[in-house]
Amino acid sequence: MLVALVLLFVLSALLLRIWGSPKAMERIPGSLGWPIVGESFSFISEFSSPAGIFSFMYKRQQKYGKVFKSYVLGRYTIFMTGREASKILLTGKDGLVSLNLFYTGKQVLGPTSLLQQTGEAHKRLRRLIADPLSVDGLKKYFPFINNLAIEVLDQWSGRKVLVLEEASTFTLKVIGNMIMSLEPAGEEQEKFRANFKIISSCFASLPFKIPGTAFYRGIKARDRMYAMLDSTIAHRRKGETFKQDFLESLLKKHSKETSEGEDDDKLTDAQLKDNILSLLVAGHDTTTAALTWLIKFLEENPVALEHLREEHLTIQRNREKGSSLTWSEVNNMPYTNKVINETLRRATILPWFSRKAAQDFDIDGYKIQNGWSVNLDVVSIHHDPEFFPNPQKFDPSRFSDPIKPFSFLGFGSGPRMCPGINLAKLEVSVFIHHLMCRYKWKPLEKDDSVQPTLVRMPKNKYPITVERL
Ligand code: HEM
Ligand SMILES: *[C@@H]1O[C@H](CO)[C@@H](O)[C@H](O)[C@H]1NC(C)=O
Repeated sequence: MLVALVLLFVLSALLLRIWGSPKAMERIPGSLGWPIVGESFSFISEFSSPAGIFSFMYKRQQKYGKVFKSYVLGRYTIFMTGREASKILLTGKDGLVSLNLFYTGKQVLGPTSLLQQTGEAHKRLRRLIADPLSVDGLKKYFPFINNLAIEVLDQWSGRKVLVLEEASTFTLKVIGNMIMSLEPAGEEQEKFRANFKIISSCFASLPFKIPGTAFYRGIKARDRMYAMLDSTIAHRRKGETFKQDFLESLLKKHSKETSEGEDDDKLTDAQLKDNILSLLVAGHDTTTAALTWLIKFLEENPVALEHLREEHLTIQRNREKGSSLTWSEVNNMPYTNKVINETLRRATILPWFSRKAAQDFDIDGYKIQNGWSVNLDVVSIHHDPEFFPNPQKFDPSRFSDPIKPFSFLGFGSGPRMCPGINLAKLEVSVFIHHLMCRYKWKPLEKDDSVQPTLVRMPKNKYPITVERL
């Protein structure tokens, strides 16, 4: 493992284009650490500690202030924190910064992914996916999501479960169904799941496309996934099947006549596939992590758990006997919404947002140059005692008062704010409703370690034993 890491740093330093020269960074406070590896070792070891990346950031912020430089994971990086920085980086006074993916991510997701587009092209893609991901657009998937949550939870009674595994199965089936009407069981689902797992585990791998490496396997799995999509698209085009899913809504736009010379809504097959994969990648681990952390935080905070349970039992009591959760009930769960936000604050599932300066600009009196990698340290923003008193405490009621702009970034902000927010909240709310009405649970071990992956998740997958209420 260590050898692989050292190799990664050496090679990434040599092979990947290193922008700018560290000389220009002389005026930015901070340490670049050791030659080649920089501060990567302390970064990685603190990343997977229970306190997570917060301790790495905190030590340096104490020493250097809100803007400091470092050299981690093969690149020179400026870390920034605070509401001022988040405002500048996220509202992106147009074209100030662009998203900064790692090399492997760029290769796997494809050039036309909305994660790699900027400016007008990015806006246009956002417009195309906005409708099907809006609250109204999601209504038609509600019965599927509701039935699936019940079905998954049916299996929990009196058992030991790994919450993260269950959440992962649930969220992948939801998004597979929503995007291309994939049935929740069967051969297609199995293929889809197997390929997706390989793809998502290759993002943090060494950037060599050589047989045997995780990166190579990831690219191959991506190709198989695209072949699946190609055949689905072909069926749809021939009118052999008609479905009301995400793919269909993009295809409809795709084939729209453009007599007025307006081809704004047209997507090529390559664009279609790149963007469907991007939604899968951006939406799956995040929602899985959110659901898992939420269940863990609840068990650790009995007051919040009781309050949440009361909200859901009341909904159940007020409903006709034998009927199931309704659409209007899901959209009226005020305390659940606070619990979701507080979960995202405490867990900070995406601990930093990565950007690349697209031009020179000033921040806090420092000059940032075009091309520099700039990361917004969200964990520190979410634990700033000025906006979140007693920040380590899990307390959903802090979201009863309006939150200051740019202090809560669970779904980001500005033009790149998460387009999947409604879907994520819908999935979590439905699942939590049935969990609250049916079960209590206990963790099987006390371990707060975090997986050293970009999306923060409990390392032990949160094993619990479950009992009926
Ligand atoms: C609880 C679950 C989720 C969390 C916490 C979350 C969080 C975020 C955050 C913080 C960003 C902004 C990142 C940045 O500014 O660098 C983001 C972007 C994004 N999210 Fe989510 N997300 C979740 C679920 C989803 C779902 C379900 C989907 C897909 C349907 C999705 C699709 C995306 C996409 C495509 C972007 C990139 C947007 C762009 O660059 O314009 N997310 N998400
Ligand atoms: C939760 O956060 C979202 C996104 O930042 C925000 O729009 C919403 O108002 C918040 N909800 C509550 C109850 O605080």
